[in-house]
Amino acid sequence: MIITVTLNPALDKTARVDVMRANALNRLRDVQIDAGGKGINVSAMIRVLGGESVAVGFAGGGAGEELLSRIAGKGLKADFVRVSAVTRTNVKVVDNEGALTELNEPGPAIKPEEWREMENKLSRYSLTGNTIALSGSLPAGLGADTYKRLCALLRRAGAAVFLDADGDALKHALESEPDSIPDYIKPNRFELLRYFSIPDDEEVSETRLAELCRSLLDKGVKLVALSMGADGAIFVSKNGVWRAPAVAVEVRSTVGAGDSMVGALVYGFEHGLPEEQCFALAMAASAGACATAGTNPPERALVDELLQKTRIEELVPKLG
Ligand SMILES: Nc1ncnc2c1ncn2[C@@H]1O[C@H](COP(=O)(O)OP(=O)(O)OP(=O)(O)O)[C@@H](O)[C@H]1O
Ligand SMILES: [Mg+2]
Repeated sequence: MIITVTLNPALDKTARVDVMRANALNRLRDVQIDAGGKGINVSAMIRVLGGESVAVGFAGGGAGEELLSRIAGKGLKADFVRVSAVTRTNVKVVDNEGALTELNEPGPAIKPEEWREMENKLSRYSLTGNTIALSGSLPAGLGADTYKRLCALLRRAGAAVFLDADGDALKHALESEPDSIPDYIKPNRFELLRYFSIPDDEEVSETRLAELCRSLLDKGVKLVALSMGADGAIFVSKNGVWRAPAVAVEVRSTVGAGDSMVGALVYGFEHGLPEEQCFALAMAASAGACATAGTNPPERALVDELLQKTRIEELVPKLG
């Protein structure tokens, strides 16, 4: 069973405006509301592939109710902790020139008893054989070591953990002992370099990137999927190092491409697919997400078509 976790979900409101002006009234049109959250995107991708998951998160107030109804509208199962503060609404406005203005709220503060309810819920889901995918930013009131503590709790309870986080949250989680560290991670290039304190404008060869990923295996991580946008991805596990170019598509929106990659990988592991097939599915799913508008997952037929075009090349056989 797969459980996706979005601790800081949002109602995403997207709209258009002719010209965006400060100090003026901007009249919005084509207003659309959607359930926003990286774990929710992961669940949506899993569903496209024919898998099942339960989306877990926090929801509060009227916006929280709306969020849950939008998640249900996508055909996804959800099991949220209700909180007293109101779920955030993030506004994205695109003008006639295509310029994007984003107005993001920090997210509701989570009370200690609400956090305990989340821990209890996730512990109940942490049966051996289950995979828990933790994605995205942390809401106010939760420390940067939240994912680290959660990984320890869930792994010790028997679940496999996939972590897609950035900055201090990732740093803390990778400081754990091998029995508490995330099993799988999917940093993008920027997140990986930041973790290693390498300036992100520095030329870093693919061999070096693969070595950086490999050094994380020594800590107990089982798979590092390094996504590099239009440059494709590198996958590093104890069984080898693979390189995959991005599948060429006409790009409509790259938002959520990483989440589709996570969804495909978790789906592949859950269904016992060989590693290379999981990687191929991840490349096809993420490219398909780029060819699809908004944060919507690609259609299954598109993923199948792109799957034929994936190339997974083994760079280094079996690590010594
Ligand atoms: N322009 C593109 N063309 C084809 N595939 C792409 C393109 N951009 C991204 N991808 C695919 O999506 C994967 C994930 O992209 P990226 O590295 O941008 O993830 P990310 O930064 O974590 O994204 P997000 O967090 O917004 O979901 C890439 O490894 C690649 O397979
Ligand atoms: Mg990402």
